[in-house]
Amino acid sequence: MADPKRDQLKVKNQKAILAAVFEPGQFDAVDPLDELKGLVETAGVDVVGTLTQSRRTPNPATLFGSGKVEELKMLVESLGAELVVVDNNLSPSQARNLEKAIDTVIVDRSEVILDIFASRARTHEAKLQVELAQLLYFRPRLKRMWTHLERIEGGVGAGRGPGEKQLETDRRLVDKRIDELKRKLASVENHRGRMVSQRNEHMTVSFVGYTNAGKSTLMNAVTGSDIYAADQLFATLDTRTRKWKVPHWGDVLLSDTVGFVRNLPHHLVASFRSTLEEARHADLLLHVVDSSHPEAARQIETVNEVLDEIGVDHSNAILVFNKCDAVEDRSIVDVLRLKHEDAVTVSAKSGEGIDRLCRAVARRLGDGFVTIRVSGHAGDGKLLHFLSEHSLVVKTDYVDSEVVFECRIAHKTLHRLDAFEAKVVVEMSARTVEEIADAVADSA
Ligand code: GTP
Repeated sequence: MADPKRDQLKVKNQKAILAAVFEPGQFDAVDPLDELKGLVETAGVDVVGTLTQSRRTPNPATLFGSGKVEELKMLVESLGAELVVVDNNLSPSQARNLEKAIDTVIVDRSEVILDIFASRARTHEAKLQVELAQLLYFRPRLKRMWTHLERIEGGVGAGRGPGEKQLETDRRLVDKRIDELKRKLASVENHRGRMVSQRNEHMTVSFVGYTNAGKSTLMNAVTGSDIYAADQLFATLDTRTRKWKVPHWGDVLLSDTVGFVRNLPHHLVASFRSTLEEARHADLLLHVVDSSHPEAARQIETVNEVLDEIGVDHSNAILVFNKCDAVEDRSIVDVLRLKHEDAVTVSAKSGEGIDRLCRAVARRLGDGFVTIRVSGHAGDGKLLHFLSEHSLVVKTDYVDSEVVFECRIAHKTLHRLDAFEAKVVVEMSARTVEEIADAVADSA
């Protein structure tokens, strides 16, 4: 069977031309191929030339117009390129038609991203997720892939492809493996789901953000840990969780998730659903933005779109404008700040604004609390133990054999008091958040 991974590795160190079709005005501020360059360099491809076309509607058969296709073919010949990497996602037939017209290997954006993910996957779960996404992507493209391999390997009769019978066998094998991967993932996801829901004891905070926004660096800065952070795309594929001691609040669990990027392959997003489970269950999302990037506003939109796609509510996320030390064009940040008044500006590198971030987190977490009065038997040690572990006891009054606690407790923990023989009166929303913060600080 044609092996997608074998095909992928062949792309490494190949001479490539980058090409893209984009809408007029879409990339006025930046080089439209800037991000693709970063992606292919991460995948180890050698860029020898570029070609772009601004077009309101892409050509359904070949993406580019016929004149541009001809231009691309000449460029490939004159620069001795071995493949063309297209920034758009191509349909199987567009890729086939382009390959035929240009007579070279065509790789689209999804393939590049899948390739990077495949080389980055470290854990068992991430490997299963990436392999599933690869197979789902390649299944409708099997015929073309065979042509790829023959070309790359200089096979005689390149372009002929395998017989229909061979393709049928391949498809069956791919389907079998897809089923197997889905089964294995379901079992890993089950386990993860249980682990995530068991974390109820602590409030949870999750980082989300565009790739390279500085999530890992910020995680290191606030938790004092030493997580791998690098100036490369998708350095992080697996969710990592650390304890974060938020001043004026207490311990929370902080998770760092996979970074997003424009036009993330759909199958990949679907496969990473469970990795993003942490974000779905988080009490608070921190959306980290590289505010020194000229495309910061668009990156914010992309992240929100992916969150919508996987069903994560981000309406209450705190935007964190990171890399404030590296901002060159202040006007971009000024506009961002106007649009997002509640955003917190920080530099994970210099530490500037981290205290502001902690205060914002403590304040937002406090929003999820209520003040209650709990009356129970003075000898009920379990009740006392539960309240001292799971709430902030502000006041304790003993009346004969009865005890009355006034405490602040998270909405989500409130139902657990049903297990006790105690009378619970929800008095009000927690007073001011500063009061809660002070109470936590005092009780620490
Ligand atoms: P992915 O794993 O791709 O999702 O990236 P990430 O969001 O975890 O980013 P990471 O923390 O790996 O940082 C990416 C690059 O940005 C690294 O080179 C960091 O050193 C750099 N960086 C992070 N925060 C800052 C900052 O506040 N200022 C500056 N100047 N650079 C930063």
